[in-house]
Amino acid sequence: MQTRSAEQTPCTVMNAPEPQWLARRLNHYYRDRVRDTWGGVHILRGRIPQSSDICLMSNDYLALSKEPSILEAQARTLMEQGMGMLMSGSFLLNGSSPHRDFEMRLARFMHAEDGVLCQSGYAANTGLLQCIADEQTPVYLDVLAHMSLWQGVRSAGAKAISFYHNDADHLQRQVLKYGPGVIVVDSVYSTNGSVCPLRDIVAVGSALGCILVVDESHSLGTHGEQGEGLVASLGLADKVHFRTASLAKAFAGRAGFITCSARFMEYFKCESHPAIFSSTLLPHEIAGLDATLSIIQKDAWRRERLHACSNYLRVHLNELGYNVQAGNAQIISLEPGPEPKLIQLRDALEAGGVFGAPFFPPATSKNRTLMRFSLNCGLSDGELKRIIEVCDSIRDEVKLNEWPSTRRRRSDAVDAIHSPHPAAEACKVTAAG
Ligand SMILES: Cc1ncc(COP(=O)(O)O)c(C=O)c1O
Repeated sequence: MQTRSAEQTPCTVMNAPEPQWLARRLNHYYRDRVRDTWGGVHILRGRIPQSSDICLMSNDYLALSKEPSILEAQARTLMEQGMGMLMSGSFLLNGSSPHRDFEMRLARFMHAEDGVLCQSGYAANTGLLQCIADEQTPVYLDVLAHMSLWQGVRSAGAKAISFYHNDADHLQRQVLKYGPGVIVVDSVYSTNGSVCPLRDIVAVGSALGCILVVDESHSLGTHGEQGEGLVASLGLADKVHFRTASLAKAFAGRAGFITCSARFMEYFKCESHPAIFSSTLLPHEIAGLDATLSIIQKDAWRRERLHACSNYLRVHLNELGYNVQAGNAQIISLEPGPEPKLIQLRDALEAGGVFGAPFFPPATSKNRTLMRFSLNCGLSDGELKRIIEVCDSIRDEVKLNEWPSTRRRRSDAVDAIHSPHPAAEACKVTAAG
């Protein structure tokens, strides 16, 4: 009997017809966004990077994604245990396991009593807010807080109240007006690399009886003597109730984490929907994260090099006239204006072999799109120089002088960010001063 190859098989693939209300949503995307706003040029489809190009899209800050000892630990565990038990993490409450051992190890590293591993930073943030807030709870979020935190407020049915970016005085006014609740900030903001004034925020929260949640996704591993994060390194671990983190940044894995009390750990595993209704991490992922933590603790040179790279780029970009004053961490963003300007900047950078991550709505507001550079400690001096040379050479082409961010810098205007994250639109945000 003759067999048919896949290509010879007659195609019977058909989609069910779209009802009009779904078609309207898709049309909005293809017509209003792709055709009208982006001029038919997809904002995420630039040139494909080649091996000689410099890629600044990955959040592998400590250049660990190909570290042999981590890959070996993962491969060994995979061969020994396969995929392990495919089930919810809630079932891991009983007895000891490498999973539970690692939760304790990571918690202690961050100066916390206990902790919970989650499938991602997104699951950690949504699961946590769902478990600590309800319809009665005011949740105060910095306007630049990560989308997953806004989503958590939404899933809790809680009231989102925004406060101006990094503005502890505004936060205080908001809490005095709406009452004690949950305060939510990022330690380092993922869009522009700005660092949270944690001491001031914690002082407001502690004085006014609030719960504090700090997302340390962009400071865990990169900040602190051993990479323990900003909260612990500032001596605030006993004042912040919960720290969350994506382990898909400096930890170069696929997971999330929450620091908490031992009492809360058990409650979370039995109450949080992402913990109960979504399967947990696999054994080789835990083994990889365990090996990663050992390297993060001992390789201080990675953090030093990372911060040296950030300082070098920030100083030189600033000298070239780019407004990079908002941040001082390993994320550096150029702010060209609305989306067509971002596409123009993307093309100019990519022609010079520099690839950043375009950020646009819903990750930014409409007129403040960003080209984000995520730096890593593996960048060579030659690569850093090349980034600066390219950013220098494209200034006229991208009309740097006319960017709103450049005008703000020229007029010495305070770079304040007051408008809520577009993600906030989905919540019932109260942003009144
Ligand atoms: C601050 C912050 N929190 C949470 C997340 C979500 O992390 P993950 O990618 O692990 O879901 C991210 C990643 O985009 C982030 O930048």
